[in-house]
Amino acid sequence: MNPMQFSALKQPYWRWVLLLVFSLLVSSSFSDPRISNSGLFCGNSKPPNGTNFVPNFVKEMQGLLEVINTSHFASYHLNSTPPMYALAQCHQDLSQNDCLLCYAASRTRIPRCLPSVSARIFLDGCFLRYDNYSFFQESVSSSLDNVSCSSNNITMSGEDNNKRVNLFGRNVDYAVGKVTRIALRNGGFGVEQVDGVYALAQCWKSVPAEGCRQCLQKAAKAVRGCVPKKEGRGMNTGCYLRYSTKKFYNEGTEAEHDHGFSGISIIIAIVSATSAFLMLSLSAIYATYARLSKRKKELKNLGQISKRIDRSGLKFNYETLEKATDYFSMSRKLGQGGAGSVFMGILPNGKIVAVKRLIYNTRQWVDEFFNEVNLISRIQHKNLVKLLGCSIEGPESLLVYEYVPNKSLDHFIFDEKKANFLKWKQRFDIIVGTAEGLAHLHGGASQIRIIHRDIKSSNVLLDENLNPKIADFGLVRCLATDKSHLSTGVAGTLGYMAPEYLVRGQLTEKVDVYSFGVLVLEIVCGKRNTTFTKDSGSLLQTVWTLYRSNRLPEAIDPCMRDDFSAKEAPNVLQIGLLCTQASVALRPSMAQVVQMLTDKDCEIPPPNQPPFLNASLLEPTNSTRSYSTDSFISNAVRKIQGSGTSSESSRTRSSDEASRNQ
Ligand SMILES: *[C@@H]1O[C@H](CO)[C@@H](O)[C@H](O)[C@H]1NC(C)=O
Ligand SMILES: *[C@@H]1O[C@H](CO)[C@@H](O)[C@H](O)[C@H]1NC(C)=O
Ligand SMILES: *[C@@H]1O[C@H](CO)[C@@H](O)[C@H](O)[C@H]1NC(C)=O
Ligand SMILES: *[C@@H]1O[C@H](CO)[C@@H](O)[C@H](O)[C@H]1NC(C)=O
Ligand SMILES: *[C@@H]1O[C@H](CO)[C@@H](O)[C@H](O)[C@H]1NC(C)=O
Repeated sequence: MNPMQFSALKQPYWRWVLLLVFSLLVSSSFSDPRISNSGLFCGNSKPPNGTNFVPNFVKEMQGLLEVINTSHFASYHLNSTPPMYALAQCHQDLSQNDCLLCYAASRTRIPRCLPSVSARIFLDGCFLRYDNYSFFQESVSSSLDNVSCSSNNITMSGEDNNKRVNLFGRNVDYAVGKVTRIALRNGGFGVEQVDGVYALAQCWKSVPAEGCRQCLQKAAKAVRGCVPKKEGRGMNTGCYLRYSTKKFYNEGTEAEHDHGFSGISIIIAIVSATSAFLMLSLSAIYATYARLSKRKKELKNLGQISKRIDRSGLKFNYETLEKATDYFSMSRKLGQGGAGSVFMGILPNGKIVAVKRLIYNTRQWVDEFFNEVNLISRIQHKNLVKLLGCSIEGPESLLVYEYVPNKSLDHFIFDEKKANFLKWKQRFDIIVGTAEGLAHLHGGASQIRIIHRDIKSSNVLLDENLNPKIADFGLVRCLATDKSHLSTGVAGTLGYMAPEYLVRGQLTEKVDVYSFGVLVLEIVCGKRNTTFTKDSGSLLQTVWTLYRSNRLPEAIDPCMRDDFSAKEAPNVLQIGLLCTQASVALRPSMAQVVQMLTDKDCEIPPPNQPPFLNASLLEPTNSTRSYSTDSFISNAVRKIQGSGTSSESSRTRSSDEASRNQ
């Protein structure tokens, strides 16, 4: 996997071929996160009125993500009212990446139970549960344990049926008994195959050994009852046990994958020593190309990129950049983004650049790198940070951006000393520039549509003339090429995230519009939106309340005192409120926002829906029109149920399409 291995291969084309072959091998052999639903169980009781249940739920899930990110098990406790405990467990045979994908899928589906105070979801590769008490050590429960059998019998043939069923039953008995013993010896996880019957057992890591034994024995007994069905799944409080006539698990552990992997690379190395290498990789590409049509586009683009990078002179030498950044010295570090850390570099010709060091992360890394280079080099706008080039030959991948000398916007608007510095005119220009940059990302002139996903004050940089430049495209995905509905966890920053993205993971351009709205309010008011730190006093809510009582000018940053335009500033706040409306359809597009900001004659429609979070705390006179937390969720749930049992992907696709048709 280490690109150093290929440094002997000078032609960049071959490096891409190799990377590609490898990434395809990885994805085709080890990439089934097993996200099909086994069972979703929602508790019956609801949280008391007036508790911040959904924001707490989101925090709780984020807490789990930070742990499951690097492990197969996570538990988390949030000291809220009602208290929240949650546990996530991936089956031990999943790779870390698939584990994240499986967690992301369960995290996207479990909100169907909201606002229940408890819920459990079993996917075929992982488990997720939250509840209002500490259940981590529980193993069996008469009310929670459940079993699900598939609807198909094993194939019957003629008169021997009874004999066949008996034999199958014995094999199932034997397989589930054996897999239980293996799991007990083996830290709670086991797989086993007996004569065409495949079985997997997994106890949650927090369940003690004796509990694990009880739990698996109960599940084994329950799934035996499924015979002669082809599949049975025991879904207990502390464990999961499944048998099937199909092989559904990955053989061996992570370590063995790595082993198998270096085996492959050795074979390739040997083959590459001969001229047969050419034929092999071409046919491998061809075969996988045909099989994985999903990757078709990437394949094409990948070749194009490497060619374009070579042709366009976007290529930087790794050693040069290493020296330019003083060997990535901490004193040169400018910041830390989602995809890696950023350093200041001084090139031999004296030019100052920002060098982003990407986290090297196998297949995911290739995708991410690919996205950044491909997208950013194509998209140029005065309000977007410019990509100057990249380096792909060193031990890690580097991106080179133009250096933006002033710090990010948050250093100016939230720092009392510096806040005086930004007058109304400058703040207004920053808002307009950011809106134009975003409108451009959303497809302005070009055909490419990009959702930034993490618009916030620290991602808006200011140049020496205080022009805003949107940075950190690490989270950017191009809708045209990336139809995948699963991101490894919902990306973004709390406080800026649109409610539909927060709760359902639904991603459209309107997610950026919402974040932009929050940013606008922050810039004009000079305050952070502290939605999640206090029950009251969130900026969104304060501004909305002032708006309802016609006192909008009171919200404006006192630093600007008499400096602001008495007509313009409240209008801009009103645009911010329009952008943060709870319902996706009511939010304007960025193009409309730009028009409202720049066209003096443009009528600004009144926002008629409060921001979603904490909306239930608004004065009761508005309650008929406002969306309370509860009704928002039941709407969401109704919508999800309306789409029937269809998969997440179709739901996401249709919402993408809906937004494209707008
Ligand atoms: C948890 O919820 C149940 C209702 O389902 C309730 O009886 C119990 O008191 C709650 N526990 C806590 C600690 O709030
Ligand atoms: C909570 O709110 C719902 C709907 O707003 C209402 O029907 C219910 O009576 C309230 N419950 C309590 C305990 O106030
Ligand atoms: C995942 O783990 C890496 C390395 O341990 C860490 O830098 C990163 O912030 C984590 N991501 C999340 C979303 O917690
Ligand atoms: C298992 O779950 C199903 C669906 O929720 C339910 O109808 C059934 O009663 C449950 N069985 C047990 C034994 O709890
Ligand atoms: C499956 O097998 C059971 C028990 O042998 C039998 O009662 C049932 O009719 C069979 N179902 C189908 C669809 O063949």
